Amino acid sequence: MEIIHYPHPTLRHKAKPLKKVDAELKQMIAQMFELMYEHEGIGLAATQVDLPYRVFVLNITGNREQTDEEHVFINPVISHRKGHVEDTEGCLSLPKVYAPVRRAANIVVSAFDLSGKQVTLEASELFARAIQHEIDHLDGVMFIDRLTPSQELKIKEQVREFEDRFQRLRQAGAIPSDEAIAERLKELEAKRT
Ligand code: CO
Repeated sequence: MEIIHYPHPTLRHKAKPLKKVDAELKQMIAQMFELMYEHEGIGLAATQVDLPYRVFVLNITGNREQTDEEHVFINPVISHRKGHVEDTEGCLSLPKVYAPVRRAANIVVSAFDLSGKQVTLEASELFARAIQHEIDHLDGVMFIDRLTPSQELKIKEQVREFEDRFQRLRQAGAIPSDEAIAERLKELEAKRT
């Protein structure tokens, strides 16, 4: 398992709801937490590790010792949004790119946890922002899609460097074709969704 970078096509794939929580899924989630901490992130969605499932992990402290702050959201759904607030975001799939994003200030989100239990919680501030950012990933949306035109312009060069790098990797055979990626995602979906 590794973190894929923009513009890898899986980051544009709409993930499918998971049917059940089993040992294999728990293993994937443990690996996602490990990668998230390793790369000093506070959240990581399955699509960012090339998996087509609606699940993400979160620890807004970014501190692996703070296990009480670890959250797993399986098949998350936002039911209420209130207010708006703008703040800087970054993303492990676009390292070192930062820009302000407007998000709902307060949300209510329901999801299943690792024990298969449905949990509903209210979130605000960074917690709410991170949840919205990660759910976007599950819908194939990245934070750079939500910028104002002037903010988009400011990061345009950095984003182009990622696009150039992706093309070079693909030409070198390090990244499969779009067709091969789509085929693999379909097989993974058939197994668990
Ligand atoms: Co992200």
